[in-house]
Amino acid sequence: MMNVKNNFAKILWEQLKDDLDVQEIEGLIEKPKHTDFGDLAFPCFSLAAKRKMAPQKIAEQISKNINSSLFEKIEVVGPYVNVFLNKSQVFTTIISEILSKKESYGSNNIGKGEVVTIDMSSPNIAKPFSMGHLRSTVIGNAIALIHAKCGFKPIKINHLGDWGTQFGKLIAAYKHWGVEEKVKQKTIQELLALYVKFHEEAENNKQLEVEGREWFKQLEDGHEEATSLWSWFREESLKEFNRIYEMLNIQFDSTAGEAFYNDKMESVVELLENKELLTESDSAKVVLLEDEQLPPCLIKKSDGATLYATRDLAAALYRQQTYQFAKSLYVVGNEQTLHFKQLKAVLQKLEYDWASNLHHIGFGMMLKDGKKMSTRKGEVVFLEDVLRESISLAQDNIEKKNPTLENKSQVAHMVGVGAIVFHDLKNYRMNDIDFSLEDITRFEGETGPYVQYTNARACSILRKANRETIQTPTLFTLRHDSEWELVMLLLEFPTVIQHALQKYDPSLVAKFIVDLAQAFNKYYGEVKILSDDEQKEERIALVAATSTVLTEGLRLLGMKAPIQM
Ligand code: ARG
Repeated sequence: MMNVKNNFAKILWEQLKDDLDVQEIEGLIEKPKHTDFGDLAFPCFSLAAKRKMAPQKIAEQISKNINSSLFEKIEVVGPYVNVFLNKSQVFTTIISEILSKKESYGSNNIGKGEVVTIDMSSPNIAKPFSMGHLRSTVIGNAIALIHAKCGFKPIKINHLGDWGTQFGKLIAAYKHWGVEEKVKQKTIQELLALYVKFHEEAENNKQLEVEGREWFKQLEDGHEEATSLWSWFREESLKEFNRIYEMLNIQFDSTAGEAFYNDKMESVVELLENKELLTESDSAKVVLLEDEQLPPCLIKKSDGATLYATRDLAAALYRQQTYQFAKSLYVVGNEQTLHFKQLKAVLQKLEYDWASNLHHIGFGMMLKDGKKMSTRKGEVVFLEDVLRESISLAQDNIEKKNPTLENKSQVAHMVGVGAIVFHDLKNYRMNDIDFSLEDITRFEGETGPYVQYTNARACSILRKANRETIQTPTLFTLRHDSEWELVMLLLEFPTVIQHALQKYDPSLVAKFIVDLAQAFNKYYGEVKILSDDEQKEERIALVAATSTVLTEGLRLLGMKAPIQM
């Protein structure tokens, strides 16, 4: 019903129809740096350029023709039309809207039920779940939640790295040195150790490489022992990954990994052959992408083995057929940018018009002391350890601050895990992040626990107020700047969600809820919310609305909002 910026845009559009559409106008509307210049401002530069007129003249014209109860005052300052909102009116409308819509405040139907597939997480079997995979998991999950909020139907796909020559090596290593019990107990650590040992031994024993290749051949040909070892490694690894997904409370709609496409590879190669796109190069088959200024895309090796890219081609085709997606997203680190450019280019060469709906959603690396973390040098951080550490720090913190809390360990889980998720999502995804456990588990400043704590504080006020239902405010006179700041932020939430959707950028939501939490804490510090005067009900309504939006913001990032902590 009410998004003041959008309303202002619609009012302006009445006059500006010929030059701009509502969305363009909304995009131009700014929030002035200082409240002396009003609550919203419309700059006339781009209009001036279009109409070849002085911006100030246009601003004056516009201001004369605005007439709405939403505004208390309209001023022209240079090229800007500044409007001062009728605060009581805005307050009442916005708070009533939030109280009636509850968690669906800010939802929209941009997606109209269309499907968006999200390739996310996608760790490699028999290898540790890396920080990069964590990033993909939490960014992908937040993007899925934001899409659902905007009326899309997200399909979360875990494209497991469960195929490739490394499995031949792993089987060879297991046959030489493996112990079943050890693999069962500490699957990933044990498989990783076997893999490392294989490479160490292979330096002096060339026969091992041959064995590895032979085992992979057996695997590709479907021989029983190779297949059963492979599927056992896969099952055991998945058990370990599932523990992490459970801790993060993330589920998938599909775990069709690379192996799933084994029987779909031939048809991809045929398709490319029929379109005469395959070229022989060093006895391998490639698709040349010179026109696209990209290196050739490797489809089939000289020994006939297919490649990562071939599998992704099969996967893209399968996803289009199975889900008829409107958009297909790949949440994968920036180091694979080239791969996804090639993938898209090959599909375009195959003349699929849906190829343009594939988007690589890249992200930066998790660094340690400014450097890439390397698996080889034993620098891997086991994510499960990090999660446990964070939960235990949260537990200590609660023990200190709120020793009588009832469901301490549940809350510690929500906070500890939330800290890690938020630490990742508050940064713009394309930036590298420095990994530091201390930073991740800090509970003050711009952190997840800070937002959670603020919401718990709001909930506690509401508990004390002890209202069965929160009354919708009638007409509220704002008395404090901090009240108005809070209202203005609540008003922004629907726009923030739309921007986060358009830019595939959950950090906008993360930053927004930190701002909202800060504004709320300022309000809380300045105003006695529960003191008995005629505005008590309105203040309670404002607290309830704030808590609703904080909770929903946290949810969109994949975090829980404990009501006490
Ligand atoms: N397993 C790959 C890796 O760890 C990521 C897979 C990403 N998804 C895809 N469809 N290629 O590097």
